[in-house]
Amino acid sequence: MKQVDLLYSGKAKSVYRTDDPGVYIMKFRDDITAFDGGKKDTLGGKGRYNAEVSSFFFRYLEENGIKTHYLSSVDPTAIAVRSLTMIPLEVIVRNVAAGSIVRNYPFREGEVLDPAVIVIDYKSDAHHDPMLNDDLIYALGLATPEELDQIKAMALAVNIVLSEYLAARGITLVDFKLEFGKTNDEIVVGDEISMDSMRLWDKETGASLDKDVYRFNKGDVMETYAGVAKRILSPPGEESA
Ligand code: CDP
Repeated sequence: MKQVDLLYSGKAKSVYRTDDPGVYIMKFRDDITAFDGGKKDTLGGKGRYNAEVSSFFFRYLEENGIKTHYLSSVDPTAIAVRSLTMIPLEVIVRNVAAGSIVRNYPFREGEVLDPAVIVIDYKSDAHHDPMLNDDLIYALGLATPEELDQIKAMALAVNIVLSEYLAARGITLVDFKLEFGKTNDEIVVGDEISMDSMRLWDKETGASLDKDVYRFNKGDVMETYAGVAKRILSPPGEESA
């Protein structure tokens, strides 16, 4: 399999076609953005940490029976993925109130949401990712009721698997965003699962271990990403070894 031409370049990742039409290469760049592209930087090494963590979580989900686009690791900053027709939904699962849900609704930051709350936004830079509801999703033709049910069930399954994994390493999975795509009419988890797409809080200190460190200038972003990647990739209790 050989990388051919650039298919798409987003805010932090680029996707390349390969000589196999069923396979794309997803490259994690060192770019980081926040606030709808309003804040931008390039942080050396960031792509590698997000690629490592994403690859690990995709493999872990597959081991737990959840289908993803992941095929293999290509190099430290790139993975081979199944080519998908993406569904333009940002499916956010929230276990603890933080971020936009606190700004937009009367939740207190840190309030536990049990059962977890699913919020689905329309992935559209032109429309600034507005929140959808089921009827809007059907009216816009973004998913059928059966597909939406499956997407929500998969998102909740991912939540259970990742929350438990992270909890064993002293990390609270506050919220995260998934994207889904279709391949041969099968719906699979696409995009990435990284510190850019999750909110992670240290269970002991409450410290942010994710892109909020960048958004809100809470500390050294690369030190945080390096540290949390190590904790995620290590067996429980061994992360500080
Ligand atoms: O983080 P922000 O306040 O902008 O939005 P949010 O709706 O509170 O985000 C919920 C979760 O989804 C956070 O973990 C974000 O990092 C993630 N997210 C994302 O990865 N990409 C987006 N376009 C929006 C949210």
